[in-house]
Formats: sequence, structure tokens, C-alpha cells
Amino acid sequence: MEAKAPSDSRTILTDLVLPSETNPLNNLFGGELLARMDRAASIAARRHSRRIVVTASVNHVAFNKAIPLGSVVTVEAAVSRAFKSSMEIFIDVWVEDRESGRRSKANEAIYTFVAVDETGTPIQIPALEPKTDLEKERYDAALRRKQLSLVLAGKMKPSEATELKALFE
Ligand SMILES: CC(C)(COP(=O)(O)OP(=O)(O)OC[C@H]1O[C@@H](n2cnc3c(N)ncnc32)[C@H](O)[C@@H]1OP(=O)(O)O)[C@@H](O)C(=O)NCCC(=O)NCCS
Repeated sequence: MEAKAPSDSRTILTDLVLPSETNPLNNLFGGELLARMDRAASIAARRHSRRIVVTASVNHVAFNKAIPLGSVVTVEAAVSRAFKSSMEIFIDVWVEDRESGRRSKANEAIYTFVAVDETGTPIQIPALEPKTDLEKERYDAALRRKQLSLVLAGKMKPSEATELKALFE
């Protein structure tokens, strides 16, 4: 299977914040943003693997900045590392200033998707080759995040999480 670059999976979804999608402070409701990120990440995972993909875990979400009603929001997702059947997807969320058009980073998140066959069994996917410095940085840290996610899910013993242990040595 030929390796792919993060740019092969990059997925960009741009949409408005409508009144039905806000909380009582008139900012974007967290669950709505999670759904938008899940959709973008799912398309990125599908573009990388060209398989059926399912969300295995939401590893990290940071709601750093509230996103007001009427904002133009861009969700940008790309595969940051591919393992055997699982992929880490890094998602950046941007908000566009109405007058200047300048984008500022509002939030980010990291999801894990797994490629499966028609019976739901995990299946091998192509490797990922990072190109830019940022892509390489995200690639390098992804194994640590995978181990943390597996430990938290009770699927890996902390003593087997070599990358996590290395952090504290
Ligand atoms: C995700 C799913 C396919 C994993 O199945 P599984 O029986 O745990 O399979 P495996 O143990 O072989 O894991 C498959 C891969 O997922 C990874 N994985 C599983 N759980 C994970 C987690 N919590 N965090 C990170 N990676 C995880 C494994 O490390 C493995 O990766 P690799 O093949 O790249 O090494 C299965 O749990 C599933 O179908 N879940 C429901 C998915 C779904 O419906 N999502 C929508 C949410 S409503």
C-alpha cells in the first residue's frame, strides 16, 4: 500500500453559526462543534484509507475561545498519523473576522478513527508520511497520544505505555 501525505486527507468545512446552534450566551454550542469536527475528521479518515471508518475515540478537545452567533467557522481536519488500522486526525478550528477576513484559531481537537471492513473488523490502512515541520511534530507526538488513549480506555496496561513512561524518565 502506497504511503500518503496529510494533504491527501485534508478536509475543510466552512459554515455559519445559526441561532439554533447556540447556547444561552449566544455562542456556538459545544456539541454542535463536536459534531462538525467529527464529520470533517470522518471525511479525512475516509480520504486517507478509502475504507469505511468509525470514530474510536475523541482524545482531546480544547474549547479555548467562544464562537459567537453569526461567525463563519472553518473546521480543518487531516490525518496526523496512521497506525495499522487506526488513524489520528488533528482538527484545527478557525473563526473569520467579519471586517478584515483574517482567520484566528478558536479551538483544536484530536480524534481517532479506525478503518473497518463490511463486517466491522479493523483493516490495514496506508502509512502516512508527514512533510511539513508541523506535520512532523504532530506525527511524532501521535504515538504518545495513542498510548494515553488506550490506557484511559483500559485497553493497555500503563506499564506497557513506553512512550508515556519515557516522558517521566
Ligand atoms: C473502534 C473499534 C473498531 C475498535 O475495535 P477493537 O475490537 O477494539 O479492535 P482492536 O483492538 O483491533 O483495535 C483496532 C485499532 O483501534 C485502536 N483503538 C481501539 N480503541 C482505541 C482507543 N480508545 N484509542 C485509540 N486507539 C484505539 C487500536 O489500538 C487498534 O489500532 P491499530 O490497528 O492501528 O494498532 C470498535 O471498538 C468499534 O467498532 N467501536 C464502535 C465505533 C463506533 O460506532 N463509533 C461511533 C460512535 S457512536
